[in-house]
Amino acid sequence: MHFQWYPGHMTKAKRMMQENIKLIDLVIELVDARIPQSSRNPDIDELGKNKARLILLNKADLAEEKWNDAWAEYFRKKGFSVVKVNSKKGGGMKSIHGVIQEACKEKIERDRKRGILNRPVRAMVVGIPNVGKSTFINSLAGKSCTKTGNKPGVTKGKQWIRLNRQVELLDTPGILWPKFEDQQVGLKLAFVGSIKDEVLQTEELAAELIRFMLDHYPGVLGKKYAVEEDNDVYVTLSRIAESRHCLVRGNELDTEKAALLLTDDFRNGKLGRLTLEYPQEV
Ligand code: G4P
Repeated sequence: MHFQWYPGHMTKAKRMMQENIKLIDLVIELVDARIPQSSRNPDIDELGKNKARLILLNKADLAEEKWNDAWAEYFRKKGFSVVKVNSKKGGGMKSIHGVIQEACKEKIERDRKRGILNRPVRAMVVGIPNVGKSTFINSLAGKSCTKTGNKPGVTKGKQWIRLNRQVELLDTPGILWPKFEDQQVGLKLAFVGSIKDEVLQTEELAAELIRFMLDHYPGVLGKKYAVEEDNDVYVTLSRIAESRHCLVRGNELDTEKAALLLTDDFRNGKLGRLTLEYPQEV
């Protein structure tokens, strides 16, 4: 399968991020714990060089715990601070402030030597669309946080959220589009819903998802939909349609509806906690 994908407003977003990144000490990069490598944008390493770096394995609730740990270890070895989080339910949030201080200790020490005390760390959240940036910011900032107004030297209109005395967060996250030449990376991004569904036909995407499930999680679809799994993915899809009573015109199987149902179930964690890629493959 081949698909091309060119996001339109990528250049503008990247330019904005280049401007914003000058203002900050720490890049908080969200990745999708189910595809920690494929959901990164390689530009971020260049954009964020010389900054403290924190990677959040977000949606950790949707990925397998043992792989979350393996990925955390992988990124730590590369020099990143890492926290596993579930932004939706607030899991992992408590440890973040401590990790931020630790990640920024060189900056804090530099400030101290120059006689600057208690200047808050300034952070920006970045990540590809749908990875959970807004959910994370809302969860971390909560309702009690105050937005600070414009500051001298800061481009007009920038808003900072004061999380506490030590940390301020830029209120608009940086959006980075995923980049890929490898079709497998594109597929995984489509599975988790990070690139638009229009890129692939619903049924084609579901067929690929079934292929992945049969290869990596045999038995899961069979159990979930009470069907016998068949190596022919379209046969399995038809069986799911049958089992879930997805019908058109009364009695014809509606495999498109079944495909949507399957993709939704996968994205919402209803097929269980699944990890789609592993650090040893990188
Ligand atoms: P973005 O700003 O990076 O584009 O992402 P956003 O926060 O809008 O989150 C995208 C979707 O991911 C939302 O689901 C959100 O609830 C979900 N999400 C974010 N973080 C987590 C997490 O840690 N775990 C899980 N399970 N889901 C997470 P949605 O379907 O668009 O909205 P909703 O139905 O949840 O309201």
